[in-house]
This record gives sequence, C-alpha cells and structure tokens, in this order.
Amino acid sequence: MSDRTKLTTSAGAPWVSNETSETAGPRGPVLMQDYQLIEKLAHQNRERIPERTVHAKGWGAQGTFTVTNDITKYSCAKLFSEIGKQTEVLSRWSTVAGEMGAADAERDVRGFSLKFYTEDGNWDMVGNNTPVFFVRDAYKFPDFIHTQKRHPRTNLRSPEAMFDFWGRSPECIHQVTILMSDRGIPKNPAHMNGYGSHTYSMWNADGERFWVKFHFKTLQGHKHYTNAEAEALIGKTRESYQEDLFNMIEEGNFPKWRFMIQVMPEKEAENLDFNPFDLTKVWPHKDYPLIEVGILEMNRNPDNYFQMVENAAYSPSNKVLGIGYSPDKMLQARVFSYADAHRYRLGTHYEALPANAPKCPVHHYHKDGPMRFFPAETGHPDAYYSPNQYESAAVADPAAAEPPLRINGDADRYVQEDADADYIQPRALYAEVMDDAERDRLHHNMAEAMGPCSEAVTERWLAVLGRVHPDYEAGVRKALATDGSDVNAVPVTNDSPVPTK
Ligand code: NDP
Ligand code: HEM
Repeated sequence: MSDRTKLTTSAGAPWVSNETSETAGPRGPVLMQDYQLIEKLAHQNRERIPERTVHAKGWGAQGTFTVTNDITKYSCAKLFSEIGKQTEVLSRWSTVAGEMGAADAERDVRGFSLKFYTEDGNWDMVGNNTPVFFVRDAYKFPDFIHTQKRHPRTNLRSPEAMFDFWGRSPECIHQVTILMSDRGIPKNPAHMNGYGSHTYSMWNADGERFWVKFHFKTLQGHKHYTNAEAEALIGKTRESYQEDLFNMIEEGNFPKWRFMIQVMPEKEAENLDFNPFDLTKVWPHKDYPLIEVGILEMNRNPDNYFQMVENAAYSPSNKVLGIGYSPDKMLQARVFSYADAHRYRLGTHYEALPANAPKCPVHHYHKDGPMRFFPAETGHPDAYYSPNQYESAAVADPAAAEPPLRINGDADRYVQEDADADYIQPRALYAEVMDDAERDRLHHNMAEAMGPCSEAVTERWLAVLGRVHPDYEAGVRKALATDGSDVNAVPVTNDSPVPTK
C-alpha cells in the first residue's frame, strides 16, 4: 500500500478518504467543512459539456497521413511538399441526427472529420461519407436539421417533417438517394469513403489557383448493413462502431484510406454546363479523374475519449497556406458557423485544448477570458497589443497572402435557374451506377423511412422521385403498398393526434 500513488485534492494536498464523509457522530449529519465532498459533487455536476447540435454521436482515432504522390503543381501546402512526408491526424466520425446516446448502426449520413496537425497550423477537413449534401443554401440548414431532430410536441423523430421538407426542397434528392441506398448504414467508419463534398481550392507556389474536391477512398472495401441487420445488431449493442474501431486499432488492424483529389483549373469553372460550386452536385469522374495524394492510416486509440474526441473542435475555417475556400455558398456559411459553435460548446480558448492545439508555435494577440491557461507567446513580455515597438514581437506575415479569389456579380438572392439540373446526377446514380438489386433495396429502404407520412407528403415526394426516373417512383410506390404500413402509426401533422408508438 505504501508504494501506491497517493490521492490528493485538486489543489495538490494529500487527502485522507475518498469514501467516508466527515460527520458529527457516526450517524451524521455531514459537516460543511468536508469541502472535498462538496468539490467532488460539484465536479460531477460539471462533467458534461453541451453536445454538438449536429453530429453529437462520434468515434475518434489518431493516426498518420503519408504523401505518396507529388501534387506540388496544384498546392504549395507544406503537408504535401514531398513524397513520404508524414503528418499527424486526429479523426472523428459521427452520425448527424442522433443524440450522444444514439445507436451507432442507424441509417444516417456519417461525418468524416480530419484534423491534420501540419507545421503551418491545423488543416481541418470536415466532410461526410457522401459527396453531396441535402441543400445548397445555408438559410435552409437549420430548418433541415429541425426536421431531423425531434418533433417539439411528441419528442419523437418525424418522417412527416423530413419528407415534407425534402418534398419542398427537391435539390436534396441526390443526397436522399444515397442516404436510402446501401451506403446509408455503413458497417463501421472503416468501411466507408469520406468526401470534402464542397469544392475547395488549392494554389501552387506560382500563385495559380485550382478548384479541388477531396475524396478519401476506403481501403477496407465498402460494407453495409441492411435495415434488418442493423435492427438486429442494435438490439444487441448500440455501440457497434465504437467496439469495431477500438478493437481494430487495439489489434493492430489499422483502417486506411487513399486520399485523392479532383482538380479543375480556375478558369474552367466559368464555362461548364453545371455549377461546380453547388454542393448538391458531384464532378463526373470521367471529366475530372481522381489524382492520388497519399494514404491516411488511423493507428492509435486516444487515451481519453473526452479529452481528444468530445473536445475536438473541427472547422472548415482551419485551413493552411496552399488550401483555400471557393465561392460555394454553404461553405461560406460553415466558415462562420463552426468556431461560433466551439466558443459556445467548449469555451473561448478552445484551440488551446490538447485535441485542438497546433503542433507548431502559436503567436497571437487574443488576450484573456475563460480557459486562458497558456502563456502569452507574442515574442515579448510587454507585447500584449499590436502594433508595438518590440522587435521580437510577432508581426503579420505578408508571405501568407493568398492569390486573389476572382469574384464578380451583382449582390442579389439567386435561385438556380434550371430546376431540371437537380435530377440529372441522381438519375445517373439510380439508372447507371446502381444495379437492379441495389435499386430494389433503395425502394424498400425509402418506403420504410416514409412510414408513416400523410398522403399529401407522400404524393409530393413520389412526384420528386418520378422526376428522377419513372422506375424510382414506381418502385417506391410498390414498396409502400407491399411492405404494409404500421396500422398503429399515425403521421405527425399539425392536426393529427399524437402517434401511439
Ligand atoms: P462513376 O461511374 O465514375 O462513379 C460512380 C461512383 O458512384 C463511384 O465513385 C462509386 O463509389 C459511387 N457509388 C456506388 N454506389 C453508390 C451509392 N449507393 N451511393 C453513392 N455513391 C455510390 O460516375 P460519375 O463520376 O459520372 O458519377 C455518377 C454518379 O455517381 C453521380 O451522379 C453520383 O451520384 C455518384 N457518385 C459520383 C462521385 C463523383 O465524385 N463523381 C462520387 C460518389 C458518387 P466507389 O468508387 O467507392 O465504388
Ligand atoms: C458539425 C454547422 C453543413 C459536416 C457541425 C456543427 C455545426 C455545424 C454547428 C457542430 C460543431 C461543433 O459543435 O463542434 C453546419 C452548417 C452547415 C453545415 C451551418 C451548412 C451551412 C455541413 C456539411 C458537412 C458537414 C455540408 C459535410 C460536408 C459536419 C461534420 C460535423 C459537423 C463532420 C462534426 C464535426 C466533428 O466531428 O466534431 N456542423 N454544418 N456539415 N458538420 Fe456541419
């Protein structure tokens, strides 16, 4: 016993008991001077931080990115500077809609977040396992998320709300088709791709800018659960992803992805027959072939989940020299939204937490506030403002300038002129990429997700499917009729009774 590590208070004083309160007599009451009991209870009350408003349930790992191909003609980012170069990475995968306690194997889009700790600061690649998204304008994002979360009155998820919104936002059909396809329930994150989804940009040492799309292709192969398999699995364990990933990594069976990019010269974007900055569209592979960049290998389980995964703060605003934004309207909104969420969820100086702290020197003039536990490192002890007289203090670096991003146009609120454009790519996915068996599962998955919806919402949505392909509408219509709806289930509309289950 005498060699054991000794318990102390959080102020470092040796502490006598972690099990017995100090009381007036053996039967109590407890003395208020037993401050360490109060400290212990107070800490318990503060063990939670707000869960992420979306992507609350997540699984993380640490690992390495290794460059395998020279892309310096596209990007001067130091992490790509030479073949063989390695960069430490923190990943977090997630579901979107469920709360922190949600079951892992639910049908949902998966988040795919990577924090690259480069010598030039952190680059966050905050993507999904889908190459597109439901909406293309940030005005629609909070409302879309409301439909994915719980109904205010029933406190239940509401298919009526989801399909009502989707039926009135047909630009979502590409993403909803992927969500209802086999890829809607990956077996675990090792068996899915990751996509930056948005168009980003890169620029090279000559200041030439290229538009790029990021792809992370699973090297474990795609594996999915059917609805029935997922249901059976969730009955046994709600934590299948955490179990799979944790065990894979503990056993040395490290998941890997091939990082690839699609590249479009800056000028070309002006003369395409689709908007390359529209998040509901992909760039066809035949026109923009995938170019290998490197291999991502996740090979360490974090020692403390809360510290490294729950405290992780990913943001598309974290970019490094050589990687930039694009005019994508959604991306512009995300550049604002994430750091705002982090200040609320984690606190003012969240970037100093171990998960988020860059692995390179940090010099800034942000001053005090909650969590200011790190020293001021501006280069001079008197330099807590800028500009200042101190030669050793940090100054802005003109070499960090980005080449100008060409923007033109009148300020206005623009809607996509060609409504048919939203159906072309989902049609290719449905009719050309999927085979008969996949289409059949898609029909049934969709029908299952739609039950119970009111007739008006159902018909509106079927009309959207019909615009993709007549077989799509017919297939889901048939599945709705043959799968049989739950007689006890009632759609939640404004004037309908509360569902009985
Ligand atoms: P390709 O035939 O070159 O690419 C088809 C892609 O579809 C492959 O990347 C494949 O992924 C992916 N895929 C297969 N099944 C599914 C599914 N159920 N859900 C989502 N993706 C799936 O054709 P195009 O580049 O011309 O694209 C045709 C359609 O494929 C697009 O309209 C889009 O819907 C879809 N797609 C295209 C991507 C792109 O970046 N161009 C990326 C992903 C999907 P994998 O290689 O992993 O097998
Ligand atoms: C998480 C906002 C679109 C991927 C979040 C969070 C917010 C948010 C506030 C929680 C952040 C936190 O608390 O740490 C938005 C807004 C969007 C948008 C406003 C549109 C305007 C997207 C898109 C993608 C995406 C298009 C993928 C391409 C993610 C991922 C996470 C996340 C992966 C989880 C990050 C993590 O692992 O911590 N989003 N989002 N989001 N979002 Fe978005």
